[in-house]
Amino acid sequence: MVPSLSPAQPAATPTRPLAVVVDPLSTGAALAGEFRRRGWRCVAVASIPWIADVVQADDFEEVLVDAPGTGLRERIRALAPDAVVPGAEFGVLLAEELARQQGLPVNLDLPGDPRRDKSTMLERLREQGVRAAAGRTVRSVDELDRWLSEWGRYPVVIKPARSAGSDGAQVCESREQALAAFETVAGQRNSLDLRNDGAVAMEYLDGQQFYANAVSIDGEHLVHEVWRVDVDNVDGNPLYDRDVSLAADDPLLGRLIAYTREVLTALGITDGASHSEIRMQGEQPVLVETGARLKGTSYLPAHHAVSGAHQVELLVERYAAPADFRARLAEPYRAATSCSCVALRVPRPSVVTAEGVAALAALPTAVGGPGLGLRAGQRVRQTTDLYTMPGRIYLVADDLSAIEADYRRIREIEQSLLYRPATPLEQRRWAAEERARWVAVRVRALPSWTARKVRERRARD
Ligand SMILES: Nc1ncnc2c1ncn2[C@@H]1O[C@H](COP(=O)(O)OP(=O)(O)OP(=O)(O)O)[C@@H](O)[C@H]1O
Ligand SMILES: [Mg+2]
Repeated sequence: MVPSLSPAQPAATPTRPLAVVVDPLSTGAALAGEFRRRGWRCVAVASIPWIADVVQADDFEEVLVDAPGTGLRERIRALAPDAVVPGAEFGVLLAEELARQQGLPVNLDLPGDPRRDKSTMLERLREQGVRAAAGRTVRSVDELDRWLSEWGRYPVVIKPARSAGSDGAQVCESREQALAAFETVAGQRNSLDLRNDGAVAMEYLDGQQFYANAVSIDGEHLVHEVWRVDVDNVDGNPLYDRDVSLAADDPLLGRLIAYTREVLTALGITDGASHSEIRMQGEQPVLVETGARLKGTSYLPAHHAVSGAHQVELLVERYAAPADFRARLAEPYRAATSCSCVALRVPRPSVVTAEGVAALAALPTAVGGPGLGLRAGQRVRQTTDLYTMPGRIYLVADDLSAIEADYRRIREIEQSLLYRPATPLEQRRWAAEERARWVAVRVRALPSWTARKVRERRARD
């Protein structure tokens, strides 16, 4: 029988590509808008159930949760996304797992999670012949004591292997301090809600700190921005002062970019965003840590002004227009203007003043950042880490001296005007209110916590 000619099929409507963003928090919250601007659709995944409550749900067609019984992996299989990326540190491992499941571009599958675990990270660099600090995970006081004797130098750093936000990171000047720091880290729940399995004991790198942001494609790395990071040790805790973008003719730039590329390759970062923290040791850069994700808490317009494209634009371009992205690999480092990102610091529990807010708003080079969003009357806690910093202010100018002047002015405004110290009565009232809020949050979470436990039990049985 002669087969009949079937009528011409109408051309299939090309469906818009789909991106899955795992934990779109902090800078990662901007990914959905940028994917949409490129004509993509977006689905969010929460790697921990509470993240689903804080995601900008309007930005996504669906918000999926990774928990027992939710069938996340099957749902992702059915959706057949065109890219899976992490939006924050929480989501790094799950994003890689889902991208691998779908056969999408993804970083190398290496044992021991060297992109999440700061101890394995050091080991991996050493194995691959890349300069690395001394250090490793210690799981008991005796083990730490042995490492301290072997290493024999101070200061050392004690920190969790898998946390963020400088949580628990301590610079220790003596054996006693190191042992005390170990007790505050080992076995504790950290800021990523994981229990610390011991702690990382690490050589203290005493030189200038920098960070380098990159986006990689098939193992090639575009290190598009390098910033100097000024950090102070306040009572052993590293506290950010300010970040300053590096000029294209900075004498250290070439060395920092070359080293970052070596680190990324050694850590198996082949695809997607990364944020590396590096310190100089003498003339040589040495890694503090790399996150296989976007830099957090960024005021993106300022990063765009400096580099011509910020990390979110570049990451999305890597998937949506890979040929355009690849063309950038051959372009020289670009620093169109200068920028400084100043971390506000509150010396004691205080209330923000109207005069202080007005003085910050009047700074000639201030362009944005949460520090400009402070409100008169707002309570602020004493700054001891990243989580108690009330905000950052981005200063942008072609003339670096204008930025320096505004940086000094910010510190003057903080000292003389911005924070009215809280009275003892206010402090007691706030502490009581905070306790009441803590209890209320737990009471409200109880039904969903119980439901989750029941689901987990069912999935196990
Ligand atoms: N070995 C080290 N030598 C010197 N300083 C260090 C070392 N390790 C950590 N630090 C300092 O402590 C800070 C926090 O450490 P680290 O980056 O490892 O932790 P984190 O929790 O990822 O913090 P963040 O989210 O702030 O980057 C670093 O930015 C750096 O200033
Ligand atoms: Mg860090």
